[in-house]
Amino acid sequence: MPDAICHVHEAPDALTLAQDLARFVAERLQEGVSQRGAALLVVSGGSTPIPFFKALALTAVDWPKVSVTLADERWLPPDHADSNERLVRAHLLQGLASQARFVPLKTADALAAHGVPELEVALQALPWPADVVVLGMGSDGHTASLFPGSAQLAEALDDGRTARCLAVSAPLLPNVPVDRVSLSKRALLDTRQVVIHITGLSKRQLLEQAMRAGLADPLPITLAWSRANIPCQVFYSN
Ligand code: 6PG
Repeated sequence: MPDAICHVHEAPDALTLAQDLARFVAERLQEGVSQRGAALLVVSGGSTPIPFFKALALTAVDWPKVSVTLADERWLPPDHADSNERLVRAHLLQGLASQARFVPLKTADALAAHGVPELEVALQALPWPADVVVLGMGSDGHTASLFPGSAQLAEALDDGRTARCLAVSAPLLPNVPVDRVSLSKRALLDTRQVVIHITGLSKRQLLEQAMRAGLADPLPITLAWSRANIPCQVFYSN
């Protein structure tokens, strides 16, 4: 992977990677608390972050001063098996990290589009810029809920758009095909540090391809390294 685009941290297995990432994120959060009195962490859903969440929950940070929110959410009840809020509550907001302040990306509205104004208010109140935004990547090159070819992609990537989140229509399989809400590129890059957390050779190859492809037809994940002044780290293991 070209280290010039993103610094690459490689671990021998997914558990070691999760522990390394937890240490890295905890250090950034503690630095934020020490320097600014508060810190903000943005995390993604899916299956990859579970061991990272578990490791981070056991790590000493001044958690009462840390806010946590999501890069995206599936528009499902918060106790649904596919809800990212459920994932974060079950694996991250436990142990020491149970004292963090969590801002969900879901309201009681039936449709994501109807919930966006309320979410926007909650998001604006967070202590931006984030200290760390941890992104995952799907096998189609999506990140957060920014899917290649989606009707909302251009709006989500528009640097001139001031809103921090938007409703995204249900993606195609193999993604969980439900209405979603996603942070915009502008919000995802309102951060001191971007991390791409991936495991498995096929994701590594896709990421390398996305890095090589330049700006011709960029996959959504390329937003992660699109700002020269925001450091991007890839945390990778097989
Ligand atoms: C979500 C996401 C999404 C995720 C990737 C990778 O679907 O909620 O935040 O962008 O990070 O799809 O998911 P896996 O870790 O399950 O491969």
